[in-house]
Amino acid sequence: MPTVCALGVAAVARLPVSPTPAPLTGHPLRQAALRSGIVRAVVCHAFAPVDQLVVEERPSPPCPPDAVRVAVRACGVNFVDGLFVQGRYQIKPPLPFTPGGEIAGVVTEIGSDVAGVGVGHRVLASVGLGGFADEVVVRAAQAVAIPDALSDGQAATFVQSYLTGLFALRERAHARAGQSLLVLGAGGGVGLAAVDLGRMLGLQVIAAASSEAKRRAALDQGAQAVIDTSTEDLKDRARELSGGGVDLAYDPVGGEAAEQALRALGEDGQLVVIGFASGTIPRLPANQVLLRNRRVTGVDWGAWAMRHPGENRALLAEVLAAIEAGRLSPVEPQTYPLDHVARALTDLAERRVVGKVALVP
Ligand SMILES: NC(=O)c1ccc[n+]([C@@H]2O[C@H](COP(=O)([O-])OP(=O)(O)OC[C@H]3O[C@@H](n4cnc5c(N)ncnc54)[C@H](OP(=O)(O)O)[C@@H]3O)[C@@H](O)[C@H]2O)c1
Repeated sequence: MPTVCALGVAAVARLPVSPTPAPLTGHPLRQAALRSGIVRAVVCHAFAPVDQLVVEERPSPPCPPDAVRVAVRACGVNFVDGLFVQGRYQIKPPLPFTPGGEIAGVVTEIGSDVAGVGVGHRVLASVGLGGFADEVVVRAAQAVAIPDALSDGQAATFVQSYLTGLFALRERAHARAGQSLLVLGAGGGVGLAAVDLGRMLGLQVIAAASSEAKRRAALDQGAQAVIDTSTEDLKDRARELSGGGVDLAYDPVGGEAAEQALRALGEDGQLVVIGFASGTIPRLPANQVLLRNRRVTGVDWGAWAMRHPGENRALLAEVLAAIEAGRLSPVEPQTYPLDHVARALTDLAERRVVGKVALVP
């Protein structure tokens, strides 16, 4: 069935990709391709199952005066990318397009008007689309320096999940230290980030996940307790672990789990609606919201970020500072070569991934 997710991605224009004139590293074939002005990119020609994606070569565009050329070292793969290529997202990019919203890499060329970013700098960028390629050309204003504390894989995969989490917990739910936080899908990308952020904000984190590996990852990120959703009753166990009812339930999963999370809330508790990875948008019983003076809080970080670019940049700077100070620790992603994009998206959709996924060109 069609799935709608809550992430608003308005930047659906296809980004140009281009080769690098910079020092050539890696496989000899890649070096030869780059030398000949050819870029490799994943291309979606029709809204179809992910195995219809192809990797194609195309000529590189020039680098405009306000842009930088980046040799991509890692591209973050998000749940939403699978929805985009299957035409199951509320925004449908014009075909053909290259998916991929987050990249990290090295600047190989700067436009004539660019200052403050130089060749050889490691940068990350949120590109909307176009990231599944071995090079991208982005506006210099989009390129953010990567601190040494972050690997290329981490840098390409933390922005969406951490900014969503901080925006959701602090700006939308007004979380306070000492509150209990139930995180659903806690072993997934968005879930693990919420666990890490919850720990930083002083919340008592209860992580719900279906596998031992996912629960272990959540404990490593700072969860105080875990719920095995494959064997335990989510509502009963969350109430038990929180001493009567949780203050906040962070839900990127939806489906039946959402109602269980709502019923697990205590007095004045909030269900924080993040997404519907289960594929089902829940219909919540209003009496369960009324009882105990509960609240349901929606989160659309992507739409907010588009409307408030300055505040979003400040949020990113805050997360980067917390990472540099060792107060946040995004996980190292599971990596796949660019040609294995279909496998990466399938593993993510079939719940096999713990944490994040990145393509490494
Ligand atoms: N609101 C926003 O601003 C915002 C921002 C970013 C992302 N999102 C949304 O958040 C959701 C989660 O993203 P994510 O990156 O965390 O995805 P993910 O890494 O794939 O994790 C999703 C988790 O959901 C659980 N799940 C339960 N049923 C599932 C099913 N049928 N298929 C797949 N997963 C299922 C899985 O955990 P278990 O195996 O433990 O059940 C999985 O680990 C997506 O819908 C995404 O679009 C929203």
